[in-house]
Amino acid sequence: MTVASPETRLLSDQAYALIEREMTKFPPERKRSALIAALAIAQDEIGWTSREVIEELARWFELPPIAVYEVASFYTLFNTRPVGRYKLSLCTNLPCALHDGTKAAEHLKQRLGIGFGETTPDGLFTLVESECLGSCGDAPVLLVNNKRMRSFLDNAALDALIDELRAEAQGSAAAGTDGHSGATGQPGVAGDGDGR
Ligand code: FES
Repeated sequence: MTVASPETRLLSDQAYALIEREMTKFPPERKRSALIAALAIAQDEIGWTSREVIEELARWFELPPIAVYEVASFYTLFNTRPVGRYKLSLCTNLPCALHDGTKAAEHLKQRLGIGFGETTPDGLFTLVESECLGSCGDAPVLLVNNKRMRSFLDNAALDALIDELRAEAQGSAAAGTDGHSGATGQPGVAGDGDGR
């Protein structure tokens, strides 16, 4: 199925091909079962599930845009607003909270100077609360850009992670590989290439 005309294409040819491949995994009348995968593909490329992404996927899946938005807004892995280059999703569910998760949250907020749901002024970090990440025994835990899991995060480990990500961002800036819009949808604030 090809709905987008060349002049209105929002995503790359590769992204459309991936979405089409996901859709072929289901009978045509069940193609909406591929919607979550399609949202992930689009988010990896655009950085967030923007209104344009929602409307584009609604066309592809022949659904009302609100039906696509309902899926995107249900799962915390999807960014319904622009996020920084690194989205840090810290688990704040009870088992983690009882094992220094609350302490980790306070440390991150202080270190980054932001609260949950906020992005640092330099566009590098967005801090969000996460539901259980399935790694309760390793608390405190967080996901970087939905894909990189970090565990046993005491204050020293959190500081090391922030320093590591800052260095990574500076490295790609120096290499000239951060010119795309990335997670924020803002020019010059790039994604890290492993999606989010
Ligand atoms: S409660 Fe935090 S990973 Fe399960």
